[in-house]
Amino acid sequence: MPRKKIIAGNWKMNKTAKEAKKLIKELIPLVEKSKADVVICTPFTALYDAVRLTKGTNIAVGAQNIHFEEKGAYTGEVSADMLVDIGVKYVIIGHSERRQYFGDTDETVNLKLKTALSKGLIPIVCCGESLQQRELGVTNELIRTQIKAAFAGVEKEQAKNVIIAYEPIWAIGTGKTATSEQANDACRVIRCVIEEMYNKSTADSIRIQYGGSMNASNAAELLSKPDIDGGLIGGASLKADEFSKIVNYRE
Ligand code: 13P
Repeated sequence: MPRKKIIAGNWKMNKTAKEAKKLIKELIPLVEKSKADVVICTPFTALYDAVRLTKGTNIAVGAQNIHFEEKGAYTGEVSADMLVDIGVKYVIIGHSERRQYFGDTDETVNLKLKTALSKGLIPIVCCGESLQQRELGVTNELIRTQIKAAFAGVEKEQAKNVIIAYEPIWAIGTGKTATSEQANDACRVIRCVIEEMYNKSTADSIRIQYGGSMNASNAAELLSKPDIDGGLIGGASLKADEFSKIVNYRE
């Protein structure tokens, strides 16, 4: 069965609740005919309104992080239960910005992934190399390590529900998109690791997104590649017309 594409917006630390409501209202009619799954990952403060406004539409809502513990003395953190309770469906885990600035590691990514799955959230797990790592020629090893570490202890039945996002750090917010060949090669490596860890049917059904300066002009080319099943979009997800053009890309 062909994999359904999934286009997700990662709004990062942008949009107040009021601004978010405006953007979502603009977006709803523009993406209603999408053949792909559509997800918006808003800041925590906009999630409640986002879920309410998108009820009955084809837009699902995601968060950008969770804590791996169920509850407790973790000042400033948000649990999976809190997200599920208000109707959030997806959660981004291990984004490179969280690894770089907020201490997320392969180990905490693994813990967060297992927590998200156990609570019924659909995780979008990020991996990807820095420019230095690409220039050193260690991209494939790095991605293999990140995926193996992230999925350690995750059962086969659960693994196929995970979305993986390949996001080369050098392409994030820089306007330097990976070529569609570079992006597809990395997604292929990820699929091979999943096959090694689980089996072919899991590898064939798991969805792998590309992220990094994806926009309305380069989306169709990237999404035409056999191992790229969607996009995780930063900057271009903050404008309704631009994001909807990606969602409605020409096949
Ligand atoms: P940009 O699309 O702004 O490069 O960001 C990509 C990203 O980090 C999505 O998670």
